[in-house]
Amino acid sequence: MSKILGFDVYGTLVNTAAIEVPLRDCMGELAGVFAARWGEKQLEYSFRRGLMQHYADFSVCTRQALDYCCEAMAQPLSNEQRCRLIAAYAELPIFADVLDALAQLASEGNRLFAFSNGATADVKGILAKAEISDWFEGVVSAEDVRVFKPSPAVYAHFLRSTGGVVGHSWLVSSNPFDVIGARSAGMQAAWVKRDADAVYDPWDIAPSVCVKSLAELPARLAERDVSE
Ligand code: 2OP
Repeated sequence: MSKILGFDVYGTLVNTAAIEVPLRDCMGELAGVFAARWGEKQLEYSFRRGLMQHYADFSVCTRQALDYCCEAMAQPLSNEQRCRLIAAYAELPIFADVLDALAQLASEGNRLFAFSNGATADVKGILAKAEISDWFEGVVSAEDVRVFKPSPAVYAHFLRSTGGVVGHSWLVSSNPFDVIGARSAGMQAAWVKRDADAVYDPWDIAPSVCVKSLAELPARLAERDVSE
């Protein structure tokens, strides 16, 4: 049975850890720790802005989190270094399992969407650079409702925008906060646990399915059809 699939972007379609490469040019072996802290602070800012009802484009969260980490970790950047990092964030590479999975899921009649906190233009730019735009029917962005995941308003926006219905529309995400948010809003959600050490938050809201790679997703979705 064909499904509506909303693919999270940062960390699910594109590898945010790849930012460590340009970071290493700036700060050597601190790049890994800095990149992790940058990603955590970026999401913290999105959560805080949601609670404060003080929306700003997700790229503002990204830039302000970078500036925070530079100060908190005493790693000042030149303007040129800062611009290079922000530019790199706009063209992160896709994971190795993405292309084949999108092709197979599309060939099976599923409707694919990119579904992100990122502004529509930013997400379209990332998809274009990765040359995967054509696999998606559209982009659904939190920008349209001026609040970020995991606000239920964002998942409701996805359902409205795609004509999806609760229970038969899926989020595909590597981010547990996103999976829990979507499940809490009534959507199905696949957790993409590529990292064996990744920890799912100990809440009582489980993913619909857990896959180690997007390659597993078509079969796991098909199993769901049989069981439903
Ligand atoms: C997203 O793409 C931040 O991964 C999250 O919406």
